[in-house]
Amino acid sequence: MVSLVIGSQWGDEGKGKIIDVLAEKSDYVVRYHGGNNAGHTVIANGKKYPFHLMPSGILHPKTIGIIANGTVLDLDVLISEIDILEKDGYKLKGKLLISDKCHIVLPYHKALDEAYENARGANKLGTTKRGISQTYADKVSYNGIRLYELKNWEEFEKKFKFQAEVKNKILKTFKVKPISIPDELKRYKEYREKLLPYITDTFQILQSSISNHKSILLEGAHGVMLDNDFGSYPFVTGSNIITGGVNTGSGIPVQKIDNVWAVVKAYTSKVGEGPFITEINDAVAEYIREKGAEFGTTTGRPRRIGWLDLEAVKFAVDLTGTTHLAITKADVLSGIKELKVAIGYELNGKKIPHSSCGYLELAKVKPIYKTFKGWEEDLRPIKKFSDLPKTCQEYLKFIEDFLGVKIAIFSTGPAREEYIEL
Ligand code: GDP
Ligand code: IMO
Ligand code: MG
Repeated sequence: MVSLVIGSQWGDEGKGKIIDVLAEKSDYVVRYHGGNNAGHTVIANGKKYPFHLMPSGILHPKTIGIIANGTVLDLDVLISEIDILEKDGYKLKGKLLISDKCHIVLPYHKALDEAYENARGANKLGTTKRGISQTYADKVSYNGIRLYELKNWEEFEKKFKFQAEVKNKILKTFKVKPISIPDELKRYKEYREKLLPYITDTFQILQSSISNHKSILLEGAHGVMLDNDFGSYPFVTGSNIITGGVNTGSGIPVQKIDNVWAVVKAYTSKVGEGPFITEINDAVAEYIREKGAEFGTTTGRPRRIGWLDLEAVKFAVDLTGTTHLAITKADVLSGIKELKVAIGYELNGKKIPHSSCGYLELAKVKPIYKTFKGWEEDLRPIKKFSDLPKTCQEYLKFIEDFLGVKIAIFSTGPAREEYIEL
């Protein structure tokens, strides 16, 4: 069984929580794209882990974590996450496997990401400044450096020197401090020693796992609305999040994917700039931000808040071939008298689908809202769908009917055990 979990909105839907729940029965959990711009929170045994690169299901004793080729790796972050888990008693040798095809996020990528953002001034995109887009740009222009080169140290040294010299010239034009080549080489040589035991051919492992009918859980990062091709470019991220990204990012053929889970947060949040059709900036937004702890897992930035945008989620469901829904954070909405859900967009008096809108149209479209009566009750202790407040059940039924997909997991709180299986 191969299952894929994808965020259906602008990220931070609660993927980490859902992956942790599903991983209990999985042999492998696999990151296939993105980098440490992702922040996936897992709360297990009362402890909170904000994972940026570590596959979110790795805390389960028998689940093996794979970081496949499509992921880009900031080695500082990777090593610090390995250290945190080892300090907590998790033995990762043989439990964490990393593809030698992963590209490395290097110090000049981060410096360039920041330099471009600063140069854009008022037109900044609001990136996480983690060097992600710069690393993918180097990958597609044959300027990237992979773990493969790190393994073969002389290749790394040669390529790093050449790239760093070129990048330092570019950094100079931005008036940014150049990076020190000898210092960085020394650092990467130490990283190499630490990481060599984890580096392997993950393609072979995944192929034989499929042949042996093992269960594989693929961990999408970010959200469909940030997909490099189908998001509202340029307010996107550097990778392909959607189902097709699994094949390029891990080598698993798409026809081997049995289930596609879309994680849908019961409202919307967004970090960074760009159009946000259902955004609200009132006391309700403040209530949701505080109660839902909507502050970035990666950057700590307050997340922008809005009503659930089903026009956008329907696009994500169609695009990814969603078979199961996991709804999160409806518990945050308890206490709000009236809830709104966007069921379409209107531009100049005419309906327009999300997919027909570029960022210019998205900045102008008006959401068509359907209004729902809210609920007062705390959802967190509830363990049965039929025990949920009637108005909450109606809200969820509408989501299912609108999207044409059944809810399979309803998350009632951040902790591992807080969910209802349907
Ligand atoms: P991800 O990037 O999709 O993995 O999501 P993040 O971890 O960045 O943000 C989701 C936040 O919501 C985290 O703080 C989670 O602990 C929390 N969370 C996840 N599911 C629920 C839920 O059903 N209810 C509540 N209240 N919090 C949740
Ligand atoms: P998870 O996996 C929320 C957003 C950034 C920015 C845009 C581009 O935790 O859901 P980048 O650094 O990727 O070049 O920034 O994408 N972004 C996310 N927003 N959650 C994420 O990941 C995100 N990953 C990227 O805020 O707007
Ligand atoms: Mg996140």
